[in-house]
Amino acid sequence: MPLAAITLAAGLGTRMRSGRAKVLHELAGEPMIFHSLRPLLAVRANPVIVVVGHQAEQVQAVVRGAFDSAGIRFAHQDVQRGTGHAAMCAMDCLPRSFEGQVLITYGDMPRLQPGTISSFMRAHGESGAALSFISVKLDDGGAYGRVVRDDDGQVAAIVEARDATPDQRAIGEINTGVYAASAAFLRSALGAIGSGNAQGEYYLTDLVAIARGRGLMVNAFVAADFSEFAGINSREELAAVNADLRAAINARLMASGVTLIDPATAYIGEQVEIGIDTIIGPNVQILGRSRIGCGVRIDGTAWLSDVVIGDRSHLKIGIRAEQCRIGPDCEVGPFAHLREGTELEGRNRIGNFVETKKARIGWGTKASHLSYLGDASVGRETNVGCGVITVNYDGYEKHRTEIGDRCMVGCDTQLIAPVKVGNDVYVASGTTILRDVPDGCLVMSHHPQREKPGWTANWHQRHKANQPGGDSES
Ligand code: UD1
Ligand code: CA
Repeated sequence: MPLAAITLAAGLGTRMRSGRAKVLHELAGEPMIFHSLRPLLAVRANPVIVVVGHQAEQVQAVVRGAFDSAGIRFAHQDVQRGTGHAAMCAMDCLPRSFEGQVLITYGDMPRLQPGTISSFMRAHGESGAALSFISVKLDDGGAYGRVVRDDDGQVAAIVEARDATPDQRAIGEINTGVYAASAAFLRSALGAIGSGNAQGEYYLTDLVAIARGRGLMVNAFVAADFSEFAGINSREELAAVNADLRAAINARLMASGVTLIDPATAYIGEQVEIGIDTIIGPNVQILGRSRIGCGVRIDGTAWLSDVVIGDRSHLKIGIRAEQCRIGPDCEVGPFAHLREGTELEGRNRIGNFVETKKARIGWGTKASHLSYLGDASVGRETNVGCGVITVNYDGYEKHRTEIGDRCMVGCDTQLIAPVKVGNDVYVASGTTILRDVPDGCLVMSHHPQREKPGWTANWHQRHKANQPGGDSES
């Protein structure tokens, strides 16, 4: 049976008190909407229709940037007249020829799991109900819609907390906001929803009473675990769901063989992959599509986004790395900054206060202290001395520096790009490289060293007052 999905994400989320659309607020380093969409794609719903309204352009751009747009469509709800109206806007986007079932979820419910959707859809199919939804039993239903059942125990209606009588408010069974119905039922029933309620909105939840009024069956699929359905309406709920999601990610990683020294300060994205026997120290963020190998050590205080790290590499304290590839057996840091386009081939040493950008560093090459390597390629087994700088920017454009294999680049060397240094070159310390250097050369640009005996005493004599121990002002 073909399955389409609709996720409602047009609301601003007034209770967030934010200038940003609610579904763009982040959980585990990614916009909420990503977490809401992934399970729909995982159960192969096609199309997945996202209803956008508040900041539609931004929401659309963010989603398009992260997902293959093939199965995702956007429906516009310019004025937010309620969840029922939003579903109507979405149905206008679904081809008339679509005959299957439609799953409807809310964009502010990011913990829903694909397995739960599958069980729900199976139960919906087997029940023969025109409409199904997922409910949960709580001690206190709070602001959620209440599930009202008739004397036979059949679902009669969902009543919003705002519209509920005190008796109805006491009901513990609540609507999670996950629905399934045939496209045919939705096409005929959505138009029957009215707006005579506390908020003057078209409530999607009215579909329940509409179905019952037509003598159709409605099935509530009672789920055991509420945590999957916690809707995010405020920053406090955002933080609570974030903590829950983070704990789940960390538990999964630890179960798969990753050591987290302090899970309370390990902030790892849902899409991140980490190999066994990797040890992650305190205060580490690993985000995006990062892939970390086996036996890697990250000592602590690191911000890593979209990085690939090879087996057995060691990141010492204080690393920021983004869109880069660190090969196996590397040693990085402490306090290193690997910017986008950095590629360490393997067995590299990048030491303290080294910054790299768009730099390809060959196997075994080291830059151990205080360097900037930008728009550069460095060969294999080369030693980049302390304080070496690629001078890549002329004020208008960036230029490339190339350094060959097995070079010794002396301390405090500046390479004025564009420039190319061959293989087996020995660069004397303090050299300013202005033009290409052929293979095998010694290159230096110093003034020859001279000594003037007694010069220091004369110098102090000339500045008597400033002599050490003299009567200079301090
Ligand atoms: C809704 C349900 C409630 C349920 C709860 C579960 C209704 C009327 N109520 O209440 O029964 O217990 O979710 O979390 O459906 N949206 C639009 N367009 C609109 C209005 C809302 O796209 O015009 C989107 C919002 O962006 C949000 C979702 O629909 O992602 C839910 O809206 P929200 O206002 O949060 O509904 P609740 O009051 O939480
Ligand atoms: Ca909500």
